[in-house]
Amino acid sequence: MQKQQLLYKGKAKSVYETEDNDLLILHFRDDTSALDGKRIEQLARKGEVNNRFNSFIMQKLSEAGIETHFEQQLSSDEVLVKRMDMLPVECVVRNYAAGSLVRRLGLEEGQELTPPTFELFYKDDALGDPMVNESLAITLDWATEDQLAKMKALSYQVNDVLKALFDQGDLILVDFKLEFGVFHDRIVLGDEFSPDGCRIWDKTTKKKLDKDRFRQSLGDVIEGYEEVAKRIGVPLD
Ligand code: TMP
Repeated sequence: MQKQQLLYKGKAKSVYETEDNDLLILHFRDDTSALDGKRIEQLARKGEVNNRFNSFIMQKLSEAGIETHFEQQLSSDEVLVKRMDMLPVECVVRNYAAGSLVRRLGLEEGQELTPPTFELFYKDDALGDPMVNESLAITLDWATEDQLAKMKALSYQVNDVLKALFDQGDLILVDFKLEFGVFHDRIVLGDEFSPDGCRIWDKTTKKKLDKDRFRQSLGDVIEGYEEVAKRIGVPLD
């Protein structure tokens, strides 16, 4: 399958059409952004590491019965996916307090959240991806009540599968963001799952091994991603 016209250039991935109207190619670039795209840097190997990481995770989710847009890894930094109508909301599940939740509610970073929480954010860089709720999403036609219920149930299912997977590598899945789309009337997991869109800490030392290393200028960003990949068995070449 060959890349055709560029459909969309996101902050970290470019989306290309293919000769099949139902399939797209995602190209993972080395661009790394923070502050809703206001800070961008190139980090060597990031495109490859995230593509391999995402392919591995999507296949694990498929094996667990969760439908995803993943079709086939095409090269080190490209993946073939189903073409979907993406819903403009981000679904965030948290097992421990960190990031915007700590800033918003003054919680202590690392506080366990039982049961895990589910939040919705509206995808809009200009507005800074504001937090929204189901009522707003329904009224503003971002998603139906039924779609929101499915996204929430699937997000918790993803959490159950991935918490266990990371635990086997002595890692804590602190939180993560998912995006869903509609494919032939079904809600299907899209976008990517990589250390760019989740928080992962070492179980013992609580060392951050995700994009917070970039956001907080901690250094060794991709080395952190590779450490996680190695521990959960992602083939890196
Ligand atoms: P937050 O603490 O900034 O709200 O983020 C929660 C998790 O979701 C964290 O792992 C980062 C991820 N996330 C994104 O990847 N992109 C986004 O636009 C948002 C809002 C969160």
